[in-house]
Amino acid sequence: MATLANPETDFTILPELPADVFTAPLIKPEHVGDDWLEPAQTQYSSDDDAIWNDLFARQMQVLPGRAATAFMEGLDKLDLSRGGVPDFGQLSEELDKLTGWSVVPVPMLIPDHVFFWHLANRRFPAGNFIRTRETFEYIQEPDVFHDVFGHVPMLTDPVYADYMQEYGRAGWKAMRYNRLKALGALYWYTVEFGLIEEADGIKAYGAGILSGPTEARFAVEAKSPNRIMLNVDRVMRTDYVISDLQPTYFVIESFEDLYRQTVERDFDRLYRSLAPNFTYANSAVIDVDYVVNRGTQEYHLRGGRGSDAEPI
Ligand SMILES: [Fe+2]
Repeated sequence: MATLANPETDFTILPELPADVFTAPLIKPEHVGDDWLEPAQTQYSSDDDAIWNDLFARQMQVLPGRAATAFMEGLDKLDLSRGGVPDFGQLSEELDKLTGWSVVPVPMLIPDHVFFWHLANRRFPAGNFIRTRETFEYIQEPDVFHDVFGHVPMLTDPVYADYMQEYGRAGWKAMRYNRLKALGALYWYTVEFGLIEEADGIKAYGAGILSGPTEARFAVEAKSPNRIMLNVDRVMRTDYVISDLQPTYFVIESFEDLYRQTVERDFDRLYRSLAPNFTYANSAVIDVDYVVNRGTQEYHLRGGRGSDAEPI
């Protein structure tokens, strides 16, 4: 096992997590090893495939015109509309030809350092299970629809694919400084809930937006949320909500811009200056922000999820 004494040179070995690094407590199922990978992808029933098809059809009514061009092209390149839960082996073969990535099955959320290690090696860990009809509308745990439909098409974009690998590598450094929470905020506001400026308007590339019907409209069109140009330092100091629509979205100019902002940033300096907790509330607009739209926050002020507030 590698140790964090030499954390940034060898990404092939799963790093040991020092006891003083804080991560979410997760209990490893007995049947998975240190890499948290399932021995094989689940065999899905015809009901599971029908759930996938219905989720897919629903998203296709919402996403054209709202999803990033790279995402829509990724769906085509991987032929994700062929029906049924995609086979990870087949997906990996196609992805490998395009950007050298693969998709690997995991049982559930996995520990941060294991997740980073897979990303650093261009493997995307995807939840094996699929939601049921009862949880069709909303689930908090990422299932195979969120992970494969939401994330994998973006991995066909070469620059985005490199960003994801760099993000995984950045995890080593974040562990050394005990700042996984800050790096998690960057993931949240880019990979999960990122927006991109395209010639004909703002579009969504974040998987959390693209895998659900409500947030795609809300993130791109609603008056409530703030839309602010991405600044990595600022985002890593910003709190986020897990179980509701976001009060603020961050917008990138291009995937090259995202890659550059991340790779060229002096993270050592940043981590040394970051407080353990977040500095900014998730609805805050601050002096340094380049604001695209300042939101009304009406949806959240009326009570957000669990109230009758319209996501407008
Ligand atoms: Fe996700």
